[in-house]
Amino acid sequence: MRDATPQTIYLSDYQPFGYLVDEVALTFDLDPHKTRVKSRISFRRNPEAEDGEFFLHGEGLKLISAQIDGKPVTPKVTASGLTCDVPDTPFFWEAEVEIDPKGNTALEGLYMSNGMYCTQCEAEGFRKITYYPDRPDVMSVFTVTINGPHPVLLSNGNPVAQGQNHAEWHDPWPKPAYLFALVAGDLIAHSDRFTTMSGREVDLNLYVRPGDEGKCAFGMEALKASMKWDEDVYGREYDLDLFNIVAVDDFNMGAMENKGLNIFNSAAVLASPETSTDDNFERIEAIIAHEYFHNWTGNRITCRDWFQLCLKEGLTVYRDSQFTSDMRSAPVKRIGDVIDLRSRQFAEDQGPLAHPVRPESFQEINNFYTATVYEKGAEVIGMLKTLVGDEAYSKALDLYFERHDGDAATIEDWLKVFEETTGRDLTQFKRWYSQAGTPRVDVTEAWDAGKGMLTLTFAQHTPPSTATPKPAPQVLPIAVGLIGPDGSEVAPTRVLEVTEAEQSFTFDGLDERPVASVLRGFSAPVVLKHDLSKDERLHLLAHDSDAFNRWEAGRTLARQSLLSTILHGSAPDADWLDALQVVLSDETLEPAYRALMLGLPGHADLASTLHDTGETPDPAAIHRAVESTRDAMAARFAEVLGDLYTRHTVDAPYRPDAEQSGKRALTNAAMSLLTRVQGADRAQAQFDGADNMTQQLSALAALVRSGQGDKALADFEAQWRNDRLVMDKWFGLQVSQAKPDEAAAVAQRLTEHADFNWKNPNRFRAVFGSLAMHHAGFHHESGKGYKLLADWLIKLDPVNPQTTARLCSAFQTWRRYDVDRQKKIEVELDRILATPGLSRDTTEMLSRIRE
Ligand code: PHE
Ligand code: ZN
Repeated sequence: MRDATPQTIYLSDYQPFGYLVDEVALTFDLDPHKTRVKSRISFRRNPEAEDGEFFLHGEGLKLISAQIDGKPVTPKVTASGLTCDVPDTPFFWEAEVEIDPKGNTALEGLYMSNGMYCTQCEAEGFRKITYYPDRPDVMSVFTVTINGPHPVLLSNGNPVAQGQNHAEWHDPWPKPAYLFALVAGDLIAHSDRFTTMSGREVDLNLYVRPGDEGKCAFGMEALKASMKWDEDVYGREYDLDLFNIVAVDDFNMGAMENKGLNIFNSAAVLASPETSTDDNFERIEAIIAHEYFHNWTGNRITCRDWFQLCLKEGLTVYRDSQFTSDMRSAPVKRIGDVIDLRSRQFAEDQGPLAHPVRPESFQEINNFYTATVYEKGAEVIGMLKTLVGDEAYSKALDLYFERHDGDAATIEDWLKVFEETTGRDLTQFKRWYSQAGTPRVDVTEAWDAGKGMLTLTFAQHTPPSTATPKPAPQVLPIAVGLIGPDGSEVAPTRVLEVTEAEQSFTFDGLDERPVASVLRGFSAPVVLKHDLSKDERLHLLAHDSDAFNRWEAGRTLARQSLLSTILHGSAPDADWLDALQVVLSDETLEPAYRALMLGLPGHADLASTLHDTGETPDPAAIHRAVESTRDAMAARFAEVLGDLYTRHTVDAPYRPDAEQSGKRALTNAAMSLLTRVQGADRAQAQFDGADNMTQQLSALAALVRSGQGDKALADFEAQWRNDRLVMDKWFGLQVSQAKPDEAAAVAQRLTEHADFNWKNPNRFRAVFGSLAMHHAGFHHESGKGYKLLADWLIKLDPVNPQTTARLCSAFQTWRRYDVDRQKKIEVELDRILATPGLSRDTTEMLSRIRE
């Protein structure tokens, strides 16, 4: 369904719906092209609403019949819903509609994936299933009947009747329609049980297609660990007799928290050592936790409207990051999150798509499932916790759960529980929710040797954006510690609360001038400018007791070295490399942390830094600088790397835990570098001998990058041809490891492969997500990368607008580049925008990018 004139929806226009819904009964008669959905819904006037218009959303539905209190009615139907004359007293609305799940390629509403039926309703997909007030503040109790010739028929809540080709489900917890789910198919359950803290027995099932049974065990363990963790840390217990997870192959996002029936992209839940990498395992554990945690932060307490999306997403991302920190290494998790935040959220916040964590307007809500809402939303909660302290945070959360259980809540409700429990005024803090843009924070130091006093002065400034033309100062919790000349910590971490545009803090009683370690743990999502000398940074790299800032010191030195290579062709900074070598060989540091130390800032990160300092980034020059720096690291560290490779190679049977995966991260970083100076034998041997995907895939990447991967690629394909998820890796790796001038051609060639099923979002993203992330390849001066992506976005848009629109963000940084590249991109943006019938999703994204 296409909208000719997209409408903008504003937070300030919020009105409650005119009716309350007490009960919903749905009956599905499943059929691939002609599924019938009968609804029986009880409505009564909402005493709190002024407007009594009876409008039900509905899109792409064939209305068969409608009745009110048993009498046929003739509603007025439009492309977006219907209106009808209704009585003043409570009444039952009944309707029957016909829908076409098999023809549904957008993967929103009820659709089919590999022969199974499944649903995706967040944010506004329920209206593609039946007529309903499809908004999160309308909550009701659902009873669902499913008829169809499938062994497994699932919906939300608890089962009330199961028969041959028939099932009835009842969900006692009132919920908005976006949490509705239905699954039907020939599925196999991997089952387990969990006893909750109050002794309730919960049946757990992970449903998969036949053949995937061997990939369930890890997800199930992660689920049980999540359930336990939420009891221990947040006091939250599960509230149904049953918790089901289903894996589906065609899914636009990672997973969905439908009440009691989570639906997962199979890539986000299926795991086995042979087919999944350590990173896959960690991500799966985090996503299972994330969706499970939504049961309280999202489902029991939901959002009043979609502008409040961060209420559930920011908090749930924050909770899953706490979980991962507890299960694995906290510093390693934090560093990974910051790398991700900088590459995705900062890019968004500093470009044309910038929007506040709580946006104030949108055209298509699907376009606001962003790094800003999710990841910056989580950072905001982390700052709040830092400001009020752990104990007050727990109290505020207890109050939040107690007061708002069963509510569709707002950010105001959320902040109020903190204000009440702490007595703090959060008016200024709330700007984190209302202002777009990443604050720049300049730190300057003044040292008074006579008084032994160090003064730190912070100046904050947020660049204006269309979303926030006049940003005001924000509350910045800046964690600072001081390191003495001998490397010991002379002042432990103290959180400075910066609230003014410019503000100073002093540290006294110091014998000698220390080195200030500022923004420890990345305590606020800002761009910090702290003019330390190289020696001071080397000092922090050697001695900082804050693991994050120790890594950050190395990162900054690496960035500075790379920038002078890019701009002046200088050789990599030898002092930095020497210091890095010391850290690498420090056996007191965990391997995963040392692996992170071996990483370099990404190409896009470097482009952003160049742009920030007034330079026009040249993607080819960035690529050359990164390559020559890696070559130099390999040559200089060869001996240490060889030693690390032997010392940390894992002999024990594969376990995807933090300890083993940290060792593999380090040995594989070493192997990859060594391939540059010692040839491909080590990588080939690792590839041939690998008994798990982490070892196999990292060896394959090193082989392909070195230009000696053809045989391994063919062997890999022959081995994994029938495994969709592994083949996604095969597709993606060839693009990501391609030389810059070949990346577009490799992607193009892969689209001609018989297994390039472009309607499957995972496969499409494997090729085109990888191309978009290949900075030098995508931004190749020929413009081939731009054109190829545009061709395929035009092709995908009518089939799947949501996935198309998400990939448009590849163009969001386009104004950073030279005029030639900008012109080439502009041509492509305009070509896509001129496509007749372009979806609302893609139109909104590209118009914002194009502005
Ligand atoms: N709510 C899901 C999550 O975060 C994400 C999602 C949004 C999935 C929209 C599908 C569609 O966990
Ligand atoms: Zn979520």
